[in-house]
Amino acid sequence: MKYVIANWKSNPRSLQDAQSLLSGYPKKTPLGVVICPPALFGFLVSKYHYVLGAQDVSIADRVITGDITASQLASFGVQYVIIGHSERRAMGETSSQVNQKLHNCLNCNITPIVCVGEQVRDTQGQYVLELRQQLQESFAGLTRQQLEQVIIAYEPVWAIGASAIRQCTPEEFQESLLLIQRELISVTGNMPIGAISVIYGGSVTNENVKQYITAGAEGVLLGRASLDPVVFADIVAQVYENNN
Ligand code: PGA
Repeated sequence: MKYVIANWKSNPRSLQDAQSLLSGYPKKTPLGVVICPPALFGFLVSKYHYVLGAQDVSIADRVITGDITASQLASFGVQYVIIGHSERRAMGETSSQVNQKLHNCLNCNITPIVCVGEQVRDTQGQYVLELRQQLQESFAGLTRQQLEQVIIAYEPVWAIGASAIRQCTPEEFQESLLLIQRELISVTGNMPIGAISVIYGGSVTNENVKQYITAGAEGVLLGRASLDPVVFADIVAQVYENNN
């Protein structure tokens, strides 16, 4: 299955703007198209019959001000949750917390979209160690069957958002894809490489989406591109071009 995950972050700025953004989206989208709005706008996404995702989840099923638990999300019809986005990791979220959130979601039958990615793509290969450590800690204790229910989003921090240094090349994505697959097989034990779903995120547009899909991405995680209905519709069309 191919995925197009729209991460709205803290956009749009009002309920009215959220409504007009959704009105511009394609009327019917494949099941792998998931909209992750700010939590308050979730009802609107459901009203428009899109698959609903969340941008985060609480670490444990306990009562904490400001938190939303996995069981609450599940009861609201949320099917996917983004975990460990670099913007949350930058605010102090650790891979071990990501791991707890991941197990929480799986226990509630929600598909976790776990973000991993290095800060800098250095020439000495430090980024490989950084990525491997993130993977080992974030996916600790996961069985092969559980890993099959997870989506991994490779999001190199240096290629994300308005402050991106440059775009990630398809070759760089492919190298990280292999690294992720190999590392996760070593965490969970032997499993077919094809059973591990890796998508790409970071400055994806309707002009570069095809190259990541061709390079082996099972889909894309969109930030800014999800806020422009025309660009978004074009990306969805390109990802599902061959009905896959
Ligand atoms: P971007 O954001 O597409 O705007 O680079 C991606 C993300 O932060 O997940």
